Amino acid sequence: MLHFLRSAIARRSFAGAMLLGTALTACAAQAATFTMYRDPNCGCCLAWADHMEQGEKHVVETVNHPDMASVKSQNGVPDDLRSCHTVLADGYVIEGHVPAADVERLLAERPEGVTGLAVAGMPMGSPGMEHGNHRQPFQVIAFGPEGRSVWASYPGNAS
Ligand code: CU
Ligand code: CU
Repeated sequence: MLHFLRSAIARRSFAGAMLLGTALTACAAQAATFTMYRDPNCGCCLAWADHMEQGEKHVVETVNHPDMASVKSQNGVPDDLRSCHTVLADGYVIEGHVPAADVERLLAERPEGVTGLAVAGMPMGSPGMEHGNHRQPFQVIAFGPEGRSVWASYPGNAS
């Protein structure tokens, strides 16, 4: 009986190891190092980077930059969509407090004509901007040379 149990466990963990190996390979194919440009006096950017790294798929490297406006201009971020940090993510530009799930969907779908995603300003309750339970509604906008579209909408709450 003990022998049977032991071999059952061994077999199960072997299957588990195989699954884990497959999962790791799938992740490795998509993993990327992001470069986040930020103002050194701003802290919410680091909170966003922590959020982005929670999926343990990507690493966010931080570059302090004294002139964020020029970083945004160089990377085609429209004036009215600007926020604090600007991230170069596997060929895309991520502006501000974009939820990680939206970044992952962009990297998976890679739609044509999209330069990047932006959450304009710094809405309370967006990733890295949590203050208690208060959440402002906000939208994630996909922008590109041919225009823009709503990538995702998040409702706020009243508290
Ligand atoms: Cu911010
Ligand atoms: Cu910030």
